[in-house]
Amino acid sequence: ADLLPRDRLGRPLHDLRVSVIETCNYRCPYCMPEGLTPEETALDRARRLDFDEIETAVRAFVRLGVSKLRLTGGEPLLRKGLPDLVARLAAIPGVEDLALTTNGSLLAGQARALREAGLHRLTVSLDSLDPAQFSALSGGRGKLGDVLAGIAAAEAAGFARLKINCVLQRGVNDGQALVLAERFRGTPHVLRFIEYMDVGTCNGWKREGVLPSAELRDRISARWPLLPVDATYRGEVATRYRYMDGQGEVGFVSSVSEPFCGDCHRARLSADGQLFTCLFAAQGQPLRAHIARGEDALAAHLAGLWRARGDRYSELRASAPDRKKIEMFFIGG
Ligand code: GTP
Ligand code: 5AD
Ligand code: SF4
Ligand code: SF4
Repeated sequence: ADLLPRDRLGRPLHDLRVSVIETCNYRCPYCMPEGLTPEETALDRARRLDFDEIETAVRAFVRLGVSKLRLTGGEPLLRKGLPDLVARLAAIPGVEDLALTTNGSLLAGQARALREAGLHRLTVSLDSLDPAQFSALSGGRGKLGDVLAGIAAAEAAGFARLKINCVLQRGVNDGQALVLAERFRGTPHVLRFIEYMDVGTCNGWKREGVLPSAELRDRISARWPLLPVDATYRGEVATRYRYMDGQGEVGFVSSVSEPFCGDCHRARLSADGQLFTCLFAAQGQPLRAHIARGEDALAAHLAGLWRARGDRYSELRASAPDRKKIEMFFIGG
């Protein structure tokens, strides 16, 4: 009965992001820089939660108030049998929204199976429409054409409205802002620009690389005037704008310049079964043993952990001392 916990700051739990794999076929410099990412971060498969464990965990989270689920990685399409997991999660009563975030490289071959399994929504990362720059931004591993083919396959499979995530870094790919905006204007897809964040410790983050959303919004608005749109739901991560000429929407995720911890209703489950109550957490809480005790015991345990939560890293960033942080590819974005 008291299973809808609120944390120490009064925030409920609505949203769970499940990382299904901790590895990736890209080496984006802002996430898993080549050579600087410890190889031992790759778990052997036995340490990954299996689909039974993930399903049990999700059922327990749903009892605590979660209705929104997002599968992440690493790169989630590298996880074998993913459509089977999607089908199992889509069938859980109370899961109202089931989405997946992917780099798109393997999407062309999997979009249809994911759709048929019951996936509701897809978000594809795309940092540049210039083939050479795209390749560089993936650490030399990705091909722009594969991602564009993935987007086309997703459309053909019936994902009518994609989200396209772009991390813009000042002096790196900010020249792509208008190029990407132009490409997705007039489509049903929603492009979102994400500020470069100080997640993890291996990406060598510097504040100078952050292009604040307000500045970016002014650049776009100077070309195609924008009007603010109300959030779809409380705690929405991206602030939304629409083109005045009716050509659709863009969003901005401004975790550095305008932190949104006050409405943060998200928990993250890592591929090896740890709970992270913040993207910038130093460490997680191991859940595997609790998952083994079943849904009831797990739900009770999770409620206690959520009640103890006080995270608001982005709001404290300026005053936070440097400390160890979990890598983003390990817990998903
Ligand atoms: P929907 O609204 O369901 O479409 O999802 P979303 O807006 O959460 O989208 P998505 O999962 O694509 O999040 C966009 C990006 O915002 C992520 O990839 C992260 O980079 C960032 N982000 C998401 N959640 C958080 C959060 O809790 N804290 C911070 N600092 N950044 C976040
Ligand atoms: N800052 C901002 N966004 C990041 N992502 C990965 N690392 C960072 C970072 N340091 C983004 C990816 C993807 C999403 C899952 O998270 O580009 O769009
Ligand atoms: Fe892989 Fe995404 Fe990280 Fe790039 S940002 S290395 S695609 S997990
Ligand atoms: Fe939530 Fe932590 Fe991001 Fe703040 S910094 S919005 S508490 S995940």
